[in-house]
Amino acid sequence: IDLQPFCTLAIPAKARFFCVATCVDDIRQALDFARTQELPFMVLGGGSNVVMKSDFSGLVIHMALRGIDLQANLPPDADAGINDKVYIAAAAGEPWQALVDFSLAHGLWGLENLNLIPGTVGAAPIQNIGAYGVELDQVFYDLQALRVSDGELVVFSKSACEFSYRDSFFKRTKGEYIIVSVRLCLSHKGVAKLAYPGLADHFDPVSLGALVPSAVAERVAELRRAKLPDPTVIPNAGSFFHNPIVDSEQAEHLRSLHPDIVSYAQADGRYKLAAAWLIDRAGLKGELSDGVGVHAHQALVLINPGRREGINVLNFARRIADRVEALFGVRLIIEPQIYP
Ligand code: EPU
Repeated sequence: IDLQPFCTLAIPAKARFFCVATCVDDIRQALDFARTQELPFMVLGGGSNVVMKSDFSGLVIHMALRGIDLQANLPPDADAGINDKVYIAAAAGEPWQALVDFSLAHGLWGLENLNLIPGTVGAAPIQNIGAYGVELDQVFYDLQALRVSDGELVVFSKSACEFSYRDSFFKRTKGEYIIVSVRLCLSHKGVAKLAYPGLADHFDPVSLGALVPSAVAERVAELRRAKLPDPTVIPNAGSFFHNPIVDSEQAEHLRSLHPDIVSYAQADGRYKLAAAWLIDRAGLKGELSDGVGVHAHQALVLINPGRREGINVLNFARRIADRVEALFGVRLIIEPQIYP
């Protein structure tokens, strides 16, 4: 089967076997099949954070488990008595946006800054999705995952997920667990998180107290649409590199050479550099070579208008990273997951 329609970078890779899982037992059966046929497997959600480096001679399990529910009862160890909290459970195959829309329709705070992120609910914890000043871990409660070795369901608390910037336990143990559902803790009462540039100044300071989550979500959508290409129009996988985190010495050195470099202080004293700034300053924004390019409005986003193969995209990415490293001494790390 051709995976091009299942990957937002529109890479023309083929999979030998493909199945759609709509329940946990489907996943178990798929894993049994892979095991008896001695095939590798991979799990595919929305395909918005995936680069297929070549054809896949194994089994692709396309996650299509659906369902979003308000949890009537607080989970057992939740803070009793705090009644503005609302727990939502969602199945891994739900589009992330369906969960955001559900929360906004219920007037809940928590996901408004994470509006319009492509991909599925099950993929969200893997890279701890984040945007416009909020990361998933800030609203995450727990998740259920299927242990591949024995097919058992295991609950992971927030701390067990070991979230950090664009990283989690699941990213580091690829293939050991398959996330089947996620629970988030949202709230009826909330304070808008408007620290990201372009959010606060959009709203009248006098009426900030009367803001509703959907108003913030709408503004986030405007900001996103202005910078990030719609993958159904221009194939892309969002940010193609991590924002690199460097120690304070290196950050100081870079600031002395490039006073306008964009960096953000981290809680541990290190600094996160804006990779988009590095690529932009390297003169690569808008660069297009053999059907693969750097998006003209956001230098961190690689685009694949030529629908080229994964190897072409990865070679292009390496040239970008080489150029940035030569200029700034910082190596950019690829953000999407590479298969096989
Ligand atoms: N910048 C440039 N040139 C550009 C774009 C940006 O110099 O072409 C500078 C801007 O001036 C800005 C800084 O770089 O000060 C950061 O840019 P931006 O705010 O657009 O965000 P980002 O750091 O490039 C991250 C996430 C995005 C998320 C945005 C908004 C990562 C890897 N990416 O990008 O997430 O939407 O912040 O919060 O952390 C994704 O992961 O796929 C993704 C799109």
